[in-house]
Amino acid sequence: MTPALPMVAPAKNLPTHVRIHEVGPRDGLQNEKNLVPTEVKAEFIHRLAEAGLTTIEATSFVHPKWVPQLADAETLFPALQDLDPEKIHLPVLVPNEKGLTRALTLGASRIAVFASATESFAKANLNRTIAESLDMFTPVVTRAKEEGAHVRGYLSMCFGDPWEGPVPVPQVVATAKALIDMGCDELSLGDTIGVATPGHVTALLTALNEAGVATHHLGVHFHDTYGQALSNTLAALQHGVTTVDASAGGLGGCPYAKSATGNLATEDLVWMLRGLGIETGVDLGRLTATSAWMAEQLGRPSPSRTVRALTHQEQ
Ligand code: HMG
Ligand code: MG
Repeated sequence: MTPALPMVAPAKNLPTHVRIHEVGPRDGLQNEKNLVPTEVKAEFIHRLAEAGLTTIEATSFVHPKWVPQLADAETLFPALQDLDPEKIHLPVLVPNEKGLTRALTLGASRIAVFASATESFAKANLNRTIAESLDMFTPVVTRAKEEGAHVRGYLSMCFGDPWEGPVPVPQVVATAKALIDMGCDELSLGDTIGVATPGHVTALLTALNEAGVATHHLGVHFHDTYGQALSNTLAALQHGVTTVDASAGGLGGCPYAKSATGNLATEDLVWMLRGLGIETGVDLGRLTATSAWMAEQLGRPSPSRTVRALTHQEQ
């Protein structure tokens, strides 16, 4: 049977190509209570690469007690060395110099630091104030760049925070600017708890531009808690953003923000982009089969509507 695909009907003023930053193996798995075997993680990442994803966030070099699920980074990362680094980028999260040393020792060439726009989440996630966490990242970014690594900066709680409520745009812009000024090559704007709506996305992107942060430095990272992730992505594309984070099968959550649910599902994103005639290089059939396989490993159906529709899973 021919796999179901959307009709292609391009819309005006949208990019021709989007780079999907796949976060399933990191953001998707970090919150799983039961430890996923390292071999399963390695197979997941290989299958994602075979499905055409070229940026796959592999793991985190954080304190193993803070994120036990990713405590196998030292075993997992070497199991990915057969993937051609010219074609497949494998960024990893590092919070501090210790994490950077662990990552560089294993040959990582793309790292990500992760800041918060709110004090509450900076404390919960990094045990630091915003200022202290920026001080922690500065030598990490400097050294990573000296070593020739590409540096992504994440900024969490850009739209709302479970402890503080709505987050004022100027407050987000201030920390975003600090990360760019520190030398981050790109900045991913995180809607950690999924409360953003499209007008808010446009307002933040516009404010960042007005503060001197160019759109080509920006990516978007939407969690789908309130079902807004795709609408928010479309607003970002209309603004000119071409880097979109997503998680295969809609896996995800954040262990230090209880109200965070899964990320935007990569399949749902690819379905929309394909319908809009926007290139991603992703084979939707292979990707869906990978997420269906991963759902079996985790013992529960994928939350992605597209995965469910294409594999006829029970709701
Ligand atoms: P801390 O307890 O303040 O650490 O945690 P410390 O600097 O005081 O050090 C305490 C001990 O930890 C020391 O060992 C260090 O060596 C060790 P001791 O001397 O006691 O034996 N240590 C480490 N060990 C291994 N690897 C390391 C490391 N660092 C210190 N890298 C810390 C501070 C930052 C380490 C901790 O808070 C942490 O690991 N946090 C990570 C939390 C996390 O990974 N959260 C999820 C990712 S963020 C996210 O999901 C959001 C995102 O998706 C975007 C969005 O959705 O918004 C990116
Ligand atoms: Mg996230």
